[in-house]
Amino acid sequence: MKTFLRLAGLTRPFAWWMLLAALIGFATIGSGIGLLMASAWLITTAALMPALSALQIGITGVRFFGISRGVIRYAERLISHNTTFRILTRLRVWFYDAVEPLAPARLASYRSADLLKRIVDDIQSLENIYARVLSPPVTAALVTLLMWLVVGHWSLAAAEGVLASQLVAGLAVPLLTARLAAGTARGITTLQGEQQVLAVDMVQGMSELRVFGMVGDYAERLREAEAKKLALQKRAALIEGLHESLTGLAMNGAVIWILFSMTPMVQSGAISPITLASVVFGVMASFEAFLPLTGSVQNIEADVRAGDRLFEIIDAKPEVVPPAKPEAFPKRTDIEVSNLAFTYPGSDRPALDGVSFSVPQGGRTAIVGPSGAGKSTITSLMVRFWNPAQGEISIGGMNIDKLDPEALRRNIAVVSQRTYLFGQTIRENLLLAAPEATDEQLRRALTLSGLGELQSRLDDWAGQHGMNLSGGERQRLAVARMILQDAPVIVLDEATANLDALTEEALLDTLDHTSKGKTVLAITHNLHRMERYDEVVVLHQGKVIERGSHETLLKSDGFYAGMWRLQHGQG
Ligand SMILES: Nc1ncnc2c1ncn2[C@@H]1O[C@H](COP(=O)(O)OP(=O)(O)OP(=O)(O)O)[C@@H](O)[C@H]1O
Ligand SMILES: [Mg+2]
Repeated sequence: MKTFLRLAGLTRPFAWWMLLAALIGFATIGSGIGLLMASAWLITTAALMPALSALQIGITGVRFFGISRGVIRYAERLISHNTTFRILTRLRVWFYDAVEPLAPARLASYRSADLLKRIVDDIQSLENIYARVLSPPVTAALVTLLMWLVVGHWSLAAAEGVLASQLVAGLAVPLLTARLAAGTARGITTLQGEQQVLAVDMVQGMSELRVFGMVGDYAERLREAEAKKLALQKRAALIEGLHESLTGLAMNGAVIWILFSMTPMVQSGAISPITLASVVFGVMASFEAFLPLTGSVQNIEADVRAGDRLFEIIDAKPEVVPPAKPEAFPKRTDIEVSNLAFTYPGSDRPALDGVSFSVPQGGRTAIVGPSGAGKSTITSLMVRFWNPAQGEISIGGMNIDKLDPEALRRNIAVVSQRTYLFGQTIRENLLLAAPEATDEQLRRALTLSGLGELQSRLDDWAGQHGMNLSGGERQRLAVARMILQDAPVIVLDEATANLDALTEEALLDTLDHTSKGKTVLAITHNLHRMERYDEVVVLHQGKVIERGSHETLLKSDGFYAGMWRLQHGQG
């Protein structure tokens, strides 16, 4: 119920539009009732073969309602679609605004296909809240009132019977069928979600699946989900049929009741047979208003489920909240890390445990250490993807939590071990780092990063996740982005990992060249050309175990010297 009210609340700015749509829905069905009543009147009157002039009013009525029904139905569609799209747009923007600050810390536990489904399908299904849940009951209530007045005008007893069968069709039948259908809509949504996750995994991981011969396995899982979904959809269709028959039954009950209670009035001459025929047809037409109600009740379930899935994400607290009054990014860029500690949620071992080091302005510090030592975690904390549990990082003497996280990220260029390229052109992938850059600047960045041959291919597609480029080219593209971003602080997190020795050598030269004068923090477990760094910080299991220049560390013959000898074949 809470979810439902929250969802309904979201559509509040559109309340007037929705009311208008409900009223027009009522006018459409009202026209239908008028059309059938006028037709019944016309046919029965004509059967008595009166003068043609006596039929005039009936003919006009049929014409009027026939045309108005079409026109009003058109207006109804127009308004309801318009409103629906406005609501959807608003919901999407609202959801995206809420999701963005959650990345990446709070989104780590959601699969991307699942998130996609939430953004696309769950929001789409919320459209029902307005179009199929809130509006039809209003229309049905108005139609019930109308029929009460129309039938009651001639016979109260008949009106009571009609009301009773309308209550059956409008309340009892929808509640019954919704009860029968309980879980069906929810099941279908869940299965669709599963299918989507499987399908995205299958497409993105096709090469892996091929290699491991698992394509058939995945296809089988997809088929299973499909079969389960089909069974549920069949059940939903059956229930739908049941609902239509029961509504028809209620309508026929109303007709029989009218005949039963009003025929004596015809016999006594209190009303004409023509009136009776008109009332019967009008009541039959009015039941059109009750058909969508089962959908209403069923959709509530699916909508609340979709709403729950959305609110689950909306309500997650972002890891990092920007300060109310952020400070300007400092002029000086010396970095001071003091006593930093951090543990990933769900982990029982700290990734960082009391880490301190510093990088002077324009200086170069290297962080080295075995895999899992916590090196990349320092990067994540520096760009405030996460907040440290203890300690602080300051730039130019200012704690970075006083800065606007976006300004901070603009001023720190990160080249990481995992460069994400978007499935767009090379130009668009570069513009990410500097949206205003001219083609001239893009070409220069490409040349500097050793990708001169891509200069003429700016409009080439980089492929899904950059698949059309080699690993080395992808890393170089990341360096080109770094050059374009032109930030005063540079963090290189294994920027040259996974490259062959020659390419690595060339890229290191490029990096040295392009990062001159900037404050550089370089993370690596490859101890290559370490003399370039002013200081080397050795990290092991989240702790700093040694620090000093390459020379001193070698001389002191500790962990670092051991690593170095191992890598240089002197172990
Ligand atoms: N998102 C995460 N959630 C939970 N644990 C994580 C996450 N990222 C890293 N860890 C864990 O934190 C520890 C430090 O990881 P980190 O990525 O900082 O290591 P690293 O030194 O960069 O290693 P590598 O050289 O392999 O890149 C590891 O034990 C890792 O398993
Ligand atoms: Mg790492």
